[in-house]
Amino acid sequence: MGKLIILDHPLVKHKITLLRSKHTDVQLFRQLMQELSMMLAYEATRSIPVEKKTCETPLMQADAEMISTEKLAIVPILRAGLGMVDGLLSFMPMAKVGHIGLYRDHDSLQPVDYYCKLPEKIADMEVFVVDPMLATGGSVAHAIELVKGKGASHIRFLCVVSCPEGVACLQKAHPDVDIFTCALDKGLNEKGYILPGLGDAGDRLYGTK
Ligand code: PRP
Ligand code: URA
Repeated sequence: MGKLIILDHPLVKHKITLLRSKHTDVQLFRQLMQELSMMLAYEATRSIPVEKKTCETPLMQADAEMISTEKLAIVPILRAGLGMVDGLLSFMPMAKVGHIGLYRDHDSLQPVDYYCKLPEKIADMEVFVVDPMLATGGSVAHAIELVKGKGASHIRFLCVVSCPEGVACLQKAHPDVDIFTCALDKGLNEKGYILPGLGDAGDRLYGTK
């Protein structure tokens, strides 16, 4: 079973409260999304492999460790996942970025895909699939199928707000994938929105409503 890691940090709690507020405007919403994504990235990269190296300090040679930056891939689920990419890139500027275009059909709540472009060598990479909202879990479960279809096997999922239904769905569909989230909310309403949630993440990021 994949682990569920809920970030337990005062800065995260503070920022997510601001993010949820209906009084937060589009500019601040984007900024907070980026900052929370950095914190998720810090936690989700804790277990990536490091290689033994040496390093010349001004005084002597030191034993050192480094990560293989060419083996990192960030995969946002469009649209809202795009709002998390810059936050992750600020920690991992050399990461490759793939894109998966999906939207959730308003009536059936089933994911409909319209775009998929992933790094060529994704099979050998540490993959960070990102989307701010884990609601029913259908979108990310489908996105991870596409990523696995290209051979990737080291996959983590990063989201800002989650709920028990989405976590259960993803853990069942992809038990090998750990989930990193800033908040585990109460559940879903009859329209598949997370409660208390933050509303429609894509609309709030892009000011489309
Ligand atoms: C939102 C969100 C997730 C999905 C989550 O996207 O960004 O991708 O819903 O819902 P689920 O867990 O029930 O599948 P949406 O479908 O609204 O598309 P958008 O990002 O293009 O607005
Ligand atoms: N997608 C969103 O943007 N918000 C939700 O609460 C659920 C799905």
